[in-house]
Amino acid sequence: MASVTLRRMSKSYGTVPVIHSLDIEVPDGQFLTVLGPSGCGKSTALACIAGLEQPTSGQIIFGNSDVTRLEPHERDVAMVFQDYALYPHMSVRENMSFGLKQQKVAPTTIKRQVDTAAELLGLTQLLARRPAELSGGQRQRVAVGRAVVRNPSVFLMDEPLSNLDASLRIKTRTEIKRLQRELGVTSVFVTHDQEEAMVLSDCVAVMSGGDLQQFGAPMEVYRNPANLFVAAFIGSPAMNFLEVTLENTSDALICHLGNQALKLPHIVVHPATLSKLKPGQKALMGLRPTDLVIEGHGDLSLKGKVFLVEPVGSVSYVDVDLDGWSVKATSDPDRTPASGDVVTLNCRSGRVCLFDPDTEARL
Ligand SMILES: Nc1ncnc2c1ncn2[C@@H]1O[C@H](COP(=O)(O)OP(=O)(O)OP(=O)(O)O)[C@@H](O)[C@H]1O
Ligand SMILES: [Mg+2]
Repeated sequence: MASVTLRRMSKSYGTVPVIHSLDIEVPDGQFLTVLGPSGCGKSTALACIAGLEQPTSGQIIFGNSDVTRLEPHERDVAMVFQDYALYPHMSVRENMSFGLKQQKVAPTTIKRQVDTAAELLGLTQLLARRPAELSGGQRQRVAVGRAVVRNPSVFLMDEPLSNLDASLRIKTRTEIKRLQRELGVTSVFVTHDQEEAMVLSDCVAVMSGGDLQQFGAPMEVYRNPANLFVAAFIGSPAMNFLEVTLENTSDALICHLGNQALKLPHIVVHPATLSKLKPGQKALMGLRPTDLVIEGHGDLSLKGKVFLVEPVGSVSYVDVDLDGWSVKATSDPDRTPASGDVVTLNCRSGRVCLFDPDTEARL
């Protein structure tokens, strides 16, 4: 096992920069997810960690060793690809044994390690089958099993669940998490699915356009997004953003939204935010739909008119018109209002995020 550190790692293809000076540290045994939209450089970053690509500058460090210039097979990593790439003519057992055989591991050791991994992944009954005789989820588990039998120091996964249907994705991600916790192997997982990142990870690196936007624990990134990009990318349904004008009084920061105002007590506002304020400061106020509850709890309230209701079972999402601004809020499914109803939305002041509309940074 080893920690994984990227130190000012950059990567260009020819003259096109793809990753800009990435600084990330994954402690030994932890699970990092690299999260971001298509094309932001996630697979490239993972390929650099695996040694399949050379960074243009910067360092990759496993534990205390600089592995930047090492070949993939010298790095003690195992990787699972999106398209699982199993050998079709081999059985599950042969697929899982293949890497170890190539490393000339003793047959009895191979058998023991494959049996253990198969047991962990629920593949014991399937060891004699060929990939064509397996479901998509089972094939994906074989691909994971083939990687973990090698007992790597670092486990790398590039969107391993994206070929699976929704319910299988959820089941398989639970298995990956359980397996990773059980083995305690330092893991880097790539996805564009924010929920997957939240559920699986000890830490999340949010990327956009080759830049690291934020690095932190999932709930930290969710509750305290560093900028507008992270706030909008994480959380489903997406955060509401409303243009407000800020006014600082002796005991509160008031967010004016048309004829309504939300009063944030100074105690919930970071002192640095207050010191940055300019007179007549405009801001984008971010409120998550799940924090904005119809007839809910909280020291803040807004009034508006319902224009669309979306029941999802556990809750109902309700689109509300606030004097011309539209927001998505949440309602108790048993007390869902109807279109046209005038409702009160409640929120806790500590849940309000404010962003600078020019720099898009958190205020
Ligand atoms: N071999 C290459 N040569 C030139 N450009 C490349 C090469 N590989 C990737 N790129 C570019 O680098 C950028 C990052 O690609 P990368 O595959 O890392 O994105 P990603 O975040 O994994 O996206 P996705 O979610 O779609 O898999 C993209 O703009 C891509 O077009
Ligand atoms: Mg990719």
